Amino acid sequence: PTPGADGTIVVACGDILAPLDKQHRLPADCEPPDLVQLPAEISFGGAQYLRREALDALLELFEAARRDSFSLVVNSSYRSYDVQVQTYATWVQLYGQEYADRTSARPGHSEHQLGTTVDVGARGLVLENFVGTPEAAWLEANSWKYGFIVSYPDGKEHITGYAYEPWHIRYVGKDVAAQVHRSGLTLREFLLQR
Ligand code: DAL
Ligand code: ZN
Repeated sequence: PTPGADGTIVVACGDILAPLDKQHRLPADCEPPDLVQLPAEISFGGAQYLRREALDALLELFEAARRDSFSLVVNSSYRSYDVQVQTYATWVQLYGQEYADRTSARPGHSEHQLGTTVDVGARGLVLENFVGTPEAAWLEANSWKYGFIVSYPDGKEHITGYAYEPWHIRYVGKDVAAQVHRSGLTLREFLLQR
């Protein structure tokens, strides 16, 4: 595909394996077809939605975490293009554009618009304080078994374009997640070379 006027490449709406980074984005009007609401007991800060398959996998992941005595919650999941406009603008307002671009995707560029991506938290903990927790270590070691990949690992900002986010996991299916895990690549590299 050829980049558009702004230099970005528009990926297909509905492709759960579409690369999304600073170059690749979804169409603004792209909405997942099968969003379902998350159970209230794991939703932090109001109603949350994910695509059905991603939610089924997430519930399996949370159940496995519970067996290991971790109580996980969802801080953010599906975000529409319009919500991401607000999210990004808030980061810019608070910290300036340079920092915002390290921590928030611009509208259309967020994996959250796919409806397959979740910001996981430990119950009772502020999102940013998730770094370095046993829950974060558990997620990194185990989320691939349930079809999720930590999109922005530690020390890979030069590749992913984003600062470390141990809480941000994207569903790609169990087979692909196992392949990504085995490859040792970041999700971005893996999806771009497919
Ligand atoms: N925080 C990630 C990069 C996002 O906004 O999708
Ligand atoms: Zn996120």
